[in-house]
Amino acid sequence: MIGRLAGGVAVLAVLAGGAFWMLTQPASLSDETLAALSAHDADAQAGEAVFWAAGCASCHSAPDLAPGAAPEARMVLTGGRSFPSDFGTFYAPNISPDPEHGIGDWTLPQFAHAVMQGVSPEGAHYYPAFPYTTYIHATPGDIADLWAFWQTLPADATPSRAHDVGFPFSFRRGLGLWKRFNLHDDYATPAFDDAELARGQYLVEALGHCAECHTPRDALGGLERGQWLAGAPNPAGEGRIPALPPEGWSAFDIAAYLETGFTPEFDTAGGEMADVIDNMSRIAAPDRAAIAAYLVALRSSPNP
Ligand code: HEC
Ligand code: HEC
Repeated sequence: MIGRLAGGVAVLAVLAGGAFWMLTQPASLSDETLAALSAHDADAQAGEAVFWAAGCASCHSAPDLAPGAAPEARMVLTGGRSFPSDFGTFYAPNISPDPEHGIGDWTLPQFAHAVMQGVSPEGAHYYPAFPYTTYIHATPGDIADLWAFWQTLPADATPSRAHDVGFPFSFRRGLGLWKRFNLHDDYATPAFDDAELARGQYLVEALGHCAECHTPRDALGGLERGQWLAGAPNPAGEGRIPALPPEGWSAFDIAAYLETGFTPEFDTAGGEMADVIDNMSRIAAPDRAAIAAYLVALRSSPNP
């Protein structure tokens, strides 16, 4: 009897294990995406614009860079910045083109798979501290341009630091389940017909990852899409991250803030927003205007 029971439990465990394995399987890029990546006539200069819009330097540049450091210094992607969370502390890895300590020996499909699906070349899930939940919406053309720009960046041999995350979160396979609930291939806000608003939506939802800070998270660390950009507690501890668009700001005010860091009251942007402004000051003026227009449009047509 005991033997039979143990046998039954073992069978159940194997079935549960099998289901878990299936449910946590890393996704692959679609054949269409792969074809679009290789068909794109990649342009490193366009890739630099994607780099600033997507804010890769905010997380992957050296932790001791002073605010307002020269763009050349912010392009050395040594890694090492820490990201405290409820699940432990994550460290951004070296993603410079160094073949040993960075990603110099990667291919474009491997790069795209990491950035757009959060899956490593070895098939492991990345933690969502890496905002692939945003970059999944990027166009293959932008990712191919970004990779072309990568080939112009300096290599750096700083070793990456291991994350400080305890069990069960140290078990990456479990992130496959998290992705089933939190990795969406549609936008959080409804589509816009207007070209400027659609561009602003792309810059915010596919590249700028504004929501990663400005949207509250649920108990499992997923973004609460029903509270899109509604403001959130600051994981760095101090105060709240404000709601977007800020009350009383015009589209002009927002675009000016993204360019200069000055609020309409002539305060300067502080905290992590200072790094974001550093990136935003380097994108094209019509792109800043498009972000501002999209944010103001959310005020008149709030969350879905
Ligand atoms: C909010 C911070 C943040 C931003 C912004 C960010 N990353 Fe990361 N990135 C991380 C963290 C943290 C990891 C480690 C994830 C892990 O180990 O699971 C990571 C991992 C990676 C990896 C995997 C490296 C490896 O050795 O396996 C690549 C590639 C990468 N990021 C590229 C990018 C690119 C390209 C951008 C901009 C489009 C970007 N990241 C923006 C935080 C960030
Ligand atoms: C890494 C976290 C982070 C990201 C990413 C981020 N923000 Fe912010 N944002 C902040 C913080 C923190 C503040 C508060 C700054 C301060 O106190 O001076 C802020 C402030 C702002 C403000 C001023 C609001 C006010 O009421 O004063 C605007 C506008 C803004 N962000 C827009 C954006 C846009 C647009 C994006 C995406 C391109 C973005 N943010 C991405 C953290 C972030």
